Amino acid sequence: MGVRNKMEMAKQLAAIPRGYCIGALKRAVRFYNASSACLDDTSVQLVCRELRILTHTIEKGFSLPVVKKGFGEEKMKAILRYLDCYIKIGDFSYDHEAFTGAVMIAEEYRKKAACYDLNASFIDLSKYDPYIECKSGEVYGVLSFDNAPKADGLNFWEFAHARHSIRKFSDKPLPESVLREAVDLAGTAPSACNRQSVKVFHISDRVLSRKILDIQGGARGHSSAELLLLVSDLGLYRYLSEFELPYLDGGIYLMNLLYSLNYYQIGSCPLVWDDYGEQGRQLRELIEIPSGYLVLAIVQCGFYPEDGGYYAVSNRREADNCYVKMDGKEQDKPTV
Ligand SMILES: Cc1cc2nc3c(=O)[nH]c(=O)nc-3n(C[C@H](O)[C@H](O)[C@H](O)COP(=O)(O)O)c2cc1C
Repeated sequence: MGVRNKMEMAKQLAAIPRGYCIGALKRAVRFYNASSACLDDTSVQLVCRELRILTHTIEKGFSLPVVKKGFGEEKMKAILRYLDCYIKIGDFSYDHEAFTGAVMIAEEYRKKAACYDLNASFIDLSKYDPYIECKSGEVYGVLSFDNAPKADGLNFWEFAHARHSIRKFSDKPLPESVLREAVDLAGTAPSACNRQSVKVFHISDRVLSRKILDIQGGARGHSSAELLLLVSDLGLYRYLSEFELPYLDGGIYLMNLLYSLNYYQIGSCPLVWDDYGEQGRQLRELIEIPSGYLVLAIVQCGFYPEDGGYYAVSNRREADNCYVKMDGKEQDKPTV
């Protein structure tokens, strides 16, 4: 940061009430200590975090329009390293699903190696056998799709299970009228005090869309598509206690938007966005976003590709791994 920027930052900080700044610092301290940011690979939390993320990276790699030659070798080696860490730590009650999912994705990688010209010679999974508990009927890796799931005739359970992020899209442009209807439907999302702070900015130009995706970085290998930028009007919030509220309101809206897009037969993939950091700065060099608007997430969207494709299965935690009954202080301490 240059001297001028530092001085500008200092001036802005001085103008903020002291309680506001201290509160923000306390939040950062709590987040740092409670997240896995300060842990190392002797901690089961960090190991399971990495196993989950790496597992998804591999399944996602197989869902891309073109599977890159030799893809995933370094990630697979990291998976094997973390699997060994998990066994060494020996806390098998902590997120065993992360361990199982990682072993199963390594098995998928091994099976697909010949087909995609991958090196899997270093993968020996036999030593993990004693620790594996597979759910019957569980699928790992990718599954194929032809078309968008048709909402008509599906109940909510079926519709929710039929939605998947896709990363391969048709070249056909999305009609603005259909997107407006999808945004109307997404607007049924609840929001704190009914503020409805979310706006949706549509980028239909695929050259611009690619430039934004290059800044985002998490859509490498996805086919080209249009973008919806989910933006929050921060002017609708006031207190520091509301600092995360734009993301909470926006998260609920995002889910509703993904369902709405699917309802109109439009495929999508939500993408993470760090608007407070470098991504936010670079984006504003490309497009004009009113000051006071915070970009929460990006949604890549388009019609389903005419020749079909694959989606990453992205297995979900079982209810036993999420639901905790807590009626009193002593009983049912959370173990998840
Ligand atoms: C906030 C958020 C950020 C995401 N960021 C990315 C991303 O950068 N790249 C990507 O390929 N997928 C991204 N995804 C998609 C997730 O990988 C996907 O939703 C998850 O694996 C579950 O799969 P499903 O959407 O098919 O149910 C993101 C999803 C969310 C909700």
